[in-house]
Amino acid sequence: MKEFTYYAPTEVVFGPDTENRTGELVRKWGGSKVLVVYGGGSCVRSGLLDRVTGSLKENGIPFESLGGVVPNPRLSLVRRGIDLARGEGIDFIVAVGGGSVIDSAKAIAAGVEYEGDVWDFFLRKLVPVKALPVGAVLTIPAAGSEMSDGCVVTREDECGDEKKSFSNNICRPRFAVMNPELTYTLPAYQTSCGVVDIMMHTLERYFTRGGDMYLTDALADALLRTVMKCGEKVMSAPDDYSVRASIMWASSLAHNDLTGLRGQGDWAVHGLEHEVSGLFDVAHGAGLAAIWGAWARYVVDLCPERFARLAVSLFDIPANLDSKEEMMLTANAGIEAMLDFFRLIGMPVNLTELIGREPSDEEIRHMAEMCTKGGTATLGALRKLTIEDVETIYRNAR
Ligand code: NZQ
Ligand code: ZN
Repeated sequence: MKEFTYYAPTEVVFGPDTENRTGELVRKWGGSKVLVVYGGGSCVRSGLLDRVTGSLKENGIPFESLGGVVPNPRLSLVRRGIDLARGEGIDFIVAVGGGSVIDSAKAIAAGVEYEGDVWDFFLRKLVPVKALPVGAVLTIPAAGSEMSDGCVVTREDECGDEKKSFSNNICRPRFAVMNPELTYTLPAYQTSCGVVDIMMHTLERYFTRGGDMYLTDALADALLRTVMKCGEKVMSAPDDYSVRASIMWASSLAHNDLTGLRGQGDWAVHGLEHEVSGLFDVAHGAGLAAIWGAWARYVVDLCPERFARLAVSLFDIPANLDSKEEMMLTANAGIEAMLDFFRLIGMPVNLTELIGREPSDEEIRHMAEMCTKGGTATLGALRKLTIEDVETIYRNAR
């Protein structure tokens, strides 16, 4: 194994009714006045928000609330949150929701401690050095933001929205409350989007050229196989606790870098997808499913052994991996099997299925420009994708 630093400081409190411990956890982590951030209302309808704020009250912790975070969360709400937090003397942020809510909370937390414009962090003008502490009450297993260092926000713009991210350890939540029962109300589509995102967080790290990867590959295999099995099961058993619990824990383990300790991951599919959800405002997981096949077919010849290994371990495709020819056949069969799995759980496998029409040439050009910064940057590690490569992948994904 190469040298690595593993940093996953989030306290995870997992199981039924754990949301009732939110107040106690805020106290433990030093909060005395909280901003509760939430989304479009699912947590209001389920009564979760009342339980979380009830727990704050029981612990004598005053709070303000900020709802209305939308999927692909917007910068304007982050700015409102920063103003509110400053005006009210907030010293702790509790996010009740999924990746969009947690990322908004992270951006508010970093923005409060910075005099300039919080968008500077996303533009990589500077690195945040301080942020308010954040705690998460997770309601959708998907983005893995509850343990990750990442923060993804969309800036509204008349000329086309811009979705950008930054990563920093100060963003990692102090605690994550995870009650699998909270996910029973998830629509099937959102559940599947989450399953794909969890798989992709594992796969982006899997496609690397690192050396000895026995343990990490075994962990990745276990995560992928579990999530696929449970992702299929949950379609007909949305309130099966064990299945929901496995998916929920996998969401955190897939993105807290447990399977990333082998050098640089690839991350091209995420780079490609962020432009898709930035432009078309679609769910991130569905966007990943729509892009993955075109990306995989484009790069498979660079590392057929990794694709073939995956085909054998995930889909039990029999293979003689000593023969180069058979390795390619196996690798390609694995890619097709993966797309069949996406179809099985109701996910799109191309952009037309994703947005309901064919994306135009201008839209494809725009996305290619955006994710390569006008052709000045490349995407991915397996193959450094240029603007031409990226445009071809988007076209092939139509
Ligand atoms: O807003 P509400 O009403 O809560 O509805 C949400 C939302 O419409 C709904 N939902 C959430 N929990 C529910 C529920 N509906 C019923 N019952 C529940 N228990 O689900 C919808 C999607 O929520 P969202 O938070 O957008 O989903 P997700 O967790 O997939 O987050 C996606 C965002 O995270 C970013 C994505 O790019 C996207 O912006 N990512 C963040 C990462 C990170 N911070 O590390 C990494 C990821 O790769 C990803 O890029
Ligand atoms: Zn993702």
